Amino acid sequence: MPIEDVLMPVPLPPLVRSGLARSFRVVTLWDAPDPDKLLAGIAPRLRFLATGVPILAEGMNYPISESVIARFPKLEVIANLGVGYDNIDVAAAVKRRITITNTPDVLTDETADTAFGLLLCAVRQLPQADTYLRAGHWLQQPFPLSASLRGRTMGVLGLGRIGKAIAQRAEAFGVKVLYHGRRPQADVGYPYFASLEEMAKACDILMIATPGGPETHNIVNARILDALGPAGILINIARGTVVDEPALIEALREKRILTAGLDVFVREPEVPADLIAMPHVVLLPHVGSASVTTRDAMNQLVVDNLVAVAQGHSPLTPIAETPWLTQA
Ligand code: DGY
Repeated sequence: MPIEDVLMPVPLPPLVRSGLARSFRVVTLWDAPDPDKLLAGIAPRLRFLATGVPILAEGMNYPISESVIARFPKLEVIANLGVGYDNIDVAAAVKRRITITNTPDVLTDETADTAFGLLLCAVRQLPQADTYLRAGHWLQQPFPLSASLRGRTMGVLGLGRIGKAIAQRAEAFGVKVLYHGRRPQADVGYPYFASLEEMAKACDILMIATPGGPETHNIVNARILDALGPAGILINIARGTVVDEPALIEALREKRILTAGLDVFVREPEVPADLIAMPHVVLLPHVGSASVTTRDAMNQLVVDNLVAVAQGHSPLTPIAETPWLTQA
């Protein structure tokens, strides 16, 4: 059997490249001297593509759009590094019955830990307290008192795997949990809100754990932030695009919400100077899943998905929208 090609348009981590190279010929596009010629050579027979969200691909964005997909008449699987797959036109893949795989589960607890850490940092101003001590200010006077997590209610926007793991942590900390999503979930005991605005009124921590993409673009806007109110804390570990960033900056500046903890931004790695200038906001460089253990597991899952299909098995983690290669 001739060795199959895997097209890699963006620089995925070494573990993905070396793992795939054991079973495939890895064709890298980003460093090709003549990308068009390269694509023309492999496009008619290409079955497998390995790509990733920009934060996991050295910041490189190569959207897998309908026109990219159209170049590959035999494409079967797009293995994406990342639990999110807003870099792929899912509808275009569905039309062609192409399977998309992502890297869920292995990053759930890591990301939930980061989300909760970010919340604690934002509410208790812990990074600011660290900076205060290092600057020698403690020698003059104690760090000012902060807001508290006590007595708070968390509204989770998007109660998927990561949202649920965050909710469990919230319960352990004595924080009441509500949720909003497209529909109520039968096996979930937390109160469900069909309206995001109504949930924002009922909580004082808005935890964003919903996927990015056109459906959630800017859904957290000025109206939602006003509903959250002046004691409100916004935490976003999902995608920057879910939040109307200028509206958030205004709300923070005018103290219409208390503070925010943000791990994701609209134009990463650029972060608005207005946010950087706000000392009470906690900002992280998209590190939700960024531990060695978790990233290794995500990398391995990309390899395992492609190897499974190439060997005639079901993909391990196809996204819900593309279930067709899954064998009973
Ligand atoms: C993802 O997996 O989509 C994150 O943004 C990076 O872990």
